[in-house]
Amino acid sequence: TYIVTDACIRCKYTDCVEVCPVDCFYEGENMLVIHPDECIDCGVCEPECPVEAIKPDTEDDTDGKWLALNSKYATEWPNITVKKDAPSDAAQFETESGKLEKYFS
Ligand code: SF4
Ligand code: F3S
Repeated sequence: TYIVTDACIRCKYTDCVEVCPVDCFYEGENMLVIHPDECIDCGVCEPECPVEAIKPDTEDDTDGKWLALNSKYATEWPNITVKKDAPSDAAQFETESGKLEKYFS
């Protein structure tokens, strides 16, 4: 499966949702997640993200932390299939690291 990781937090550009053939993105306040059981591994969303937040779970070097987070919130947050405006201050968070600890909600 593919997963959404730290870079998405407070950027949330939502380009990814438009291309997913199975509509498996879910929206939280500060980021999106992918439902791992619905993702068909097509990979088309990965290059769409301007901040490279999307990657295969095999490239998750955090001992499964991001896969677990995607799994958990995909069942709690609403589905999103249409692109929307990013937060007005999204650009200032593009290169920040460790956003999960600072901003996740
Ligand atoms: Fe959707 Fe394909 Fe991305 Fe999975 S890899 S989330 S199926 S676009
Ligand atoms: Fe997030 Fe990138 Fe999609 S910033 S909302 S994963 S396009």
